[in-house]
Amino acid sequence: MPTALITGATSGIGAAFAARLARDGRDLVLVARDGDRLEAAAARHRERGVTAEVLVADLSTVEGRERVAARLADQDAPVDLLVNNAGAGQRQPFLKADPAAILGQHDLNVTAVLQLTRAALPGMVQRGRGAVVNVASMLGLVTGSGSTYTAEKAWVTVFTEGLAATLAGTGVRAMVLCPGFVRTEFHERAGMDMGARRGLLWLEAERVVEECLADLARGKVVSVPSPQYKALAVLVDLLPRPVLRRVMAAAERGRGRR
Ligand SMILES: NC(=O)c1ccc[n+]([C@@H]2O[C@H](COP(=O)([O-])OP(=O)(O)OC[C@H]3O[C@@H](n4cnc5c(N)ncnc54)[C@H](OP(=O)(O)O)[C@@H]3O)[C@@H](O)[C@H]2O)c1
Repeated sequence: MPTALITGATSGIGAAFAARLARDGRDLVLVARDGDRLEAAAARHRERGVTAEVLVADLSTVEGRERVAARLADQDAPVDLLVNNAGAGQRQPFLKADPAAILGQHDLNVTAVLQLTRAALPGMVQRGRGAVVNVASMLGLVTGSGSTYTAEKAWVTVFTEGLAATLAGTGVRAMVLCPGFVRTEFHERAGMDMGARRGLLWLEAERVVEECLADLARGKVVSVPSPQYKALAVLVDLLPRPVLRRVMAAAERGRGRR
């Protein structure tokens, strides 16, 4: 089976991608910053009989991105599925957040997706097969909520839709995954208190990944897992942009009062 490279493969959605792809018999390249955690994950996947390489890299840095880009461009060990999953947000609104942290988040959520996709695609196109799955968010479908995260995920969505058109006829696919709330470490890392994380709008990472890979197999360009979020996506499409802006601004004010 072709090799898959997954960024942010130690936790949440990325860990669920790695587990599912290992079950499918795919060899893996796992990327994240925490080397011990990566080695532990790789050891678990190897028990399934697949190869699991570990690549320690901070994708918010030039050096980290270059190391992963070089691995993706290596024609002697081709990667035919790239999952650009690593990403982060922060609770602080734009004017209060540390400017260096804003730029670091941008480099992780946007620059890394751009650079790794660009590194992976020439080889895939040459081989006439492969896929890039970029993990955005439902938030990328709405207007900004005062932070840069929404804009970054909107970029990932529009970038991937354009890419899918560019790749038509090459045998290579691009798909964007737009999850809603998923029970992972994401919100805790961002310093957000999300309460009990119960209810219809909270999904498990495994389910998000199952639906994503089924959508990839169906040839979709945008994957929105679960009927509840599919319905929300339709609603967002129907709402006039000024109404959407007012709804998001009210949500932001509500968040600020908490
Ligand atoms: N959870 C949600 O509700 C939700 C909803 C919509 C979209 N998403 C998106 O889903 C993706 C995965 O998030 P998650 O919820 O699974 O979060 P998570 O549980 O916090 O996992 C994040 C993963 O990314 C890695 N990572 C973080 N910063 C990194 C960096 N600078 N360089 C390399 N790796 C880095 C982490 O490992 P290390 O710390 O070891 O680097 C970890 O493996 C993100 O793109 C996120 O925006 C999440």
